[in-house]
Amino acid sequence: MGYQRIEVRPLAGALGAEIGGIDLGRELDNQTFSELVQALHDHLVVFFRDQHLTPEQHIGVARRFGGLDVHDFVVHMPGHPEIIEVLKTPEERGRNFGGVWHSDVTYQEQPALGSMLYAKEVPAFGGDTMFANQYLAFETLSPGLQKMLLGLKAVHSPSATYSEEAVRSRGDNELRGVKYTNAEKAGMESVHPVVRTHPGTGRKALFVNGVFVRRFEGWSEAESKPLLNFLFAHAVRPEFTCRFVWRKDSLAFWDNRCTQHFAINDYDGHRRYMHRVTISGDRPFLAA
Ligand code: SIN
Repeated sequence: MGYQRIEVRPLAGALGAEIGGIDLGRELDNQTFSELVQALHDHLVVFFRDQHLTPEQHIGVARRFGGLDVHDFVVHMPGHPEIIEVLKTPEERGRNFGGVWHSDVTYQEQPALGSMLYAKEVPAFGGDTMFANQYLAFETLSPGLQKMLLGLKAVHSPSATYSEEAVRSRGDNELRGVKYTNAEKAGMESVHPVVRTHPGTGRKALFVNGVFVRRFEGWSEAESKPLLNFLFAHAVRPEFTCRFVWRKDSLAFWDNRCTQHFAINDYDGHRRYMHRVTISGDRPFLAA
């Protein structure tokens, strides 16, 4: 399908496109909406510049794509449960939110469709975000490993990141802009296919990430670890990635079903402040 209402400029060979000719603060007509869905399916993560969105407009445009997630563990913006404030202050050193390759909230039974991250304040340099194409991650594996992975499921849990012990040992609630809650609920687990079929494109994507996957279903953690570590590293090979350089008022919309992302922590001593709205997804499946 060609694009009539929006301009689409690919950013890298693997994924990512900048979208022009659109004001996300205005209500999207049906044609523009379907072109945006198409662009997301074609490019996996899409970027917008110079958007001027109130929290209500940000929530409004995200809601066009589905119901909205209220984060299980991150304290939300006062008055707006759908928004989490991704903040790193100049005093916080050595850590940031999202500074490890992952897909969002995959411990849920129905993990996110995607997220819209909107830049309110950016550092003078650094603080870019990287994205990795998980279709390519699957397609570039050998046929033998692909076949084995098609028969496997993985256990996802927030425990290593959001349990009381994890939050306390990082000193997060004392030191950081992002605060956590509900840590006692971090024991939840969900089982998802290791390779999922994207409901919109029908393509197969690798669906494991190093933050939430604990083990393969029916395997011990020790048995799972070597293969998982191989997959985590393979999934984010440089040629599967793109890198987005933020400016104030930029917005990134990633498809959480076929990408991973990584917030680069190279701006200690500077402030970076973003609003994230996450769109709920459906239960991952692998089509026969
Ligand atoms: C996230 O993982 O949602 C945060 C990404 C970023 O701040 O760039």
